[in-house]
Amino acid sequence: MAIWDSRFNKKLSSSALKFSSSIEIDKRLFSEDIEASIAHVKMLSKQKIISKIDSSEIVEGLSEIKNEIKSGKLKIDWRNEDIHSVIEERLIKKIGETGKKLHTARSRNDQIAVDEKLFLRNEIKKNLKLVSLLQKSLLKKAIFYNGTIISGYTHLQRAQPILFSHHLLAYVEMLQRDKERFSDSVSRVNLSPLGASAFAGTSLPIDRKYAARLLKFDDIQFNSIDAVSDRDSVIETISNLSIVMMHLSRLSEELIIWSSQEFSFASFDDSFATGSSLMPQKKNPDIAELIRGKTGRVYGALIGILTLMKSLPLAYNRDMQEDKFHLFNAIDTVTESIQVMTELINHTTFAKGRFEKELNGDLTLSTDIADYLVKKNIPFRKAHNISGKIVAHCTSQKIRLNEISLQTFKKFSDKFENDIFDLLNPKTSIKNKKSLGSTSFVEVDRQITYWKQILLKDKSRKNK
Ligand code: ARG
Repeated sequence: MAIWDSRFNKKLSSSALKFSSSIEIDKRLFSEDIEASIAHVKMLSKQKIISKIDSSEIVEGLSEIKNEIKSGKLKIDWRNEDIHSVIEERLIKKIGETGKKLHTARSRNDQIAVDEKLFLRNEIKKNLKLVSLLQKSLLKKAIFYNGTIISGYTHLQRAQPILFSHHLLAYVEMLQRDKERFSDSVSRVNLSPLGASAFAGTSLPIDRKYAARLLKFDDIQFNSIDAVSDRDSVIETISNLSIVMMHLSRLSEELIIWSSQEFSFASFDDSFATGSSLMPQKKNPDIAELIRGKTGRVYGALIGILTLMKSLPLAYNRDMQEDKFHLFNAIDTVTESIQVMTELINHTTFAKGRFEKELNGDLTLSTDIADYLVKKNIPFRKAHNISGKIVAHCTSQKIRLNEISLQTFKKFSDKFENDIFDLLNPKTSIKNKKSLGSTSFVEVDRQITYWKQILLKDKSRKNK
């Protein structure tokens, strides 16, 4: 028996039921569903639409059902259409006629919408915390490796010497924007669709704002048609999750490259690396590879839900039931990936001295030569050109910049003096950076101090 049975002469065929049942996916929303139902019932009683006694009986029944589902006592299978019908049917079975009053002035359309909003709100909070933990572990590495010099890349070609901590803090900064996007979305997510009823509102004197307050929503989603039709919040969340995943994937890619023998820079703890079934010497970066690979699932979810929604007329359409498949897929993948990435970072060491010697007199210092000439009043384009010729000279002679004699330097420009040789090491190059946010020792220290304040603030608040 389905809750809408009476209008039909035949039972829904089992294949149609199996195809349309969403219970295997939406049973995950049972506690949100019950929370929203309790608020709804309390509102009905405040508005004298149902009696106080009925309301307490329903609330009690719902709380028991919550425990039954939690403990696995209430068996749920595909013969149930969705989580809403499971709970309502169970309530009626438990408390009889009174249970039939629960669905007064609401529809499953506003019910699923409110369940999802509650779910999203919690998940956003959870992810904010997880991203902060990842930022903290990156920050700790940045502090530990402060002073370690690496080559920075553009186009994956050696570009300029940088501080490794600067590189790590770039990820901290992008993750901060990810958190801001999540936080910003709360103002749109935290609005209650409950009371929109099927879509047109109800003739019963409900108090939507009261129910919204009970559920700690900031307000109601005003237009009842929009309230049941909207899945923007789900899309926005998956979109924000996709951006997080893209950042994790880029970090994964770097870890993979750095751990290669060619780079020999990152080394994973044995507990976070895997071997080959065939080649005994292999130590593979599978965890990072899988984070990179699972990014596809999250992008897939985003494209999936955008496609799902793109042609739907207002208001509710059953297609929308598919949204949870995408949402849960994205949430679970990202949540797990952030956690695993945090652990992976904690279990990775970096070869401190890997680059510094190699960068002594390296061609990556040619920008410093150009800047040297600029400081001696040569226009940058010309300075760049001179420095380029010096690079060509080094390449053809197979020598490093610091192997050129002053005499030869002077052939390229008479502005060169002995002090040019002071420049031709990565430490000086880094120290000489002057601009805000740059890779200089001073600026990276400044960034570390800043992030310590931002990321450890929560902790100090808790300690108070
Ligand atoms: N399982 C449905 C969903 O997730 C719940 C709403 C069903 N509404 C309906 N009129 N059939 O979208």
